[in-house]
Amino acid sequence: MTPQLIDPFARAVTYLRVSVTDRCDFRCVYCMAENMTFLPKKELLTLEELDRMCSTFIGLGVEKLRITGGEPLVRRDIMTFFQSMTRHLDSGALKELTVTTNGSQLEKFAQPLYDAGVRRINVSLDTLDEDKFARVTRWGRLPQVLRGLDAAQKAGLRVKINTVALKGFNEDELFTLIEWCAERDMDLTFIEVMPMGDLGPEDRVGQYWSLDDLRAQLSQQYTLLDLAERTGGPARYVKLVESGQKIGFITPLTHNFCESCNRVRMTCTGELYMCLGQEDMMDLRGPLRACPPEDDSQLVAAIHKAIGLKPKGHDFDYSRQRADGQVSRHMSHTGG
Ligand code: GTP
Ligand code: 5AD
Ligand code: SF4
Repeated sequence: MTPQLIDPFARAVTYLRVSVTDRCDFRCVYCMAENMTFLPKKELLTLEELDRMCSTFIGLGVEKLRITGGEPLVRRDIMTFFQSMTRHLDSGALKELTVTTNGSQLEKFAQPLYDAGVRRINVSLDTLDEDKFARVTRWGRLPQVLRGLDAAQKAGLRVKINTVALKGFNEDELFTLIEWCAERDMDLTFIEVMPMGDLGPEDRVGQYWSLDDLRAQLSQQYTLLDLAERTGGPARYVKLVESGQKIGFITPLTHNFCESCNRVRMTCTGELYMCLGQEDMMDLRGPLRACPPEDDSQLVAAIHKAIGLKPKGHDFDYSRQRADGQVSRHMSHTGG
């Protein structure tokens, strides 16, 4: 389908990221404060509303749908929603239905996800050390995630591991993580930590490890070849010549990728954020609830208006004062 959502900078919006819950069973130190207040459940879009919202976007040319959270797989009955999206895959309107997860529930949900038409998933994993894993997630258990990853591969899901580069935390595991993923034929992407949401006493500036540094360390052991290919997401890829492995880098801070941005993100309460690193948003829940079942025109108009507000790029910046370069909402609000 010809994309119908074109922003003021002539970028076509074909990728919708949907956070289906702000809750999570982990509390990663760079993502959430230990004591988070979550939204009352009645604020959330119902599964039927999520279906209607996503279907409207697909009708407007969205071809890639990524379900995120919080942790999307902790939302009750979420598999019903995945199953309801299968019809758009079957019709060919939706090219990819996918999910970003912390892996804790994968043992149970890998097969149902595959059956609903999901083929590729992204799983967050910052360390392979059980104690460190418990520390970074505050109360996650690594073996549970590893069992989930096994189940995912058995079900036939392609797995991409997302590792947030954390100074003094996983620097020493760079090569171990790369080899571990190669042995299991999993893709691996490193992410720069982004200043989003207040963490309480934790300090993200101290956690920040630039991927330029990481790259320099990598090049001591491997010859790096920059690849031109993109997957429709923000990652750039390098090939490790000696092993043939492909590694992704998501570098919003050191090399932003806004010029080719193709996505918007919706919160679990139906707010549409046009950029991860900006506060501008548009409420779509109101227009959705105002539309009669047979007529989505108000919602469609609101979506067009929102896309007209998409900014050129984000404002993250660690070189400025902390309060300046930080976006106040947490990553779990918009799902990354
Ligand atoms: P694929 O390329 O389809 O594998 O997905 P992805 O990398 O877009 O998705 P994923 O959910 O795995 O996101 C990985 C990281 O990239 C998360 O930390 C996201 O917050 C970050 N990310 C995704 N899109 C954007 C974006 O538009 N801007 C910024 N700054 N970060 C993004
Ligand atoms: N900066 C970078 N990545 C983050 N994630 C969560 N919070 C942040 C942050 N502040 C990552 C998770 C997951 C992805 C969706 O976002 O580790 O891989
Ligand atoms: Fe949960 Fe993901 Fe945030 Fe960790 S990064 S607390 S797994 S939402």
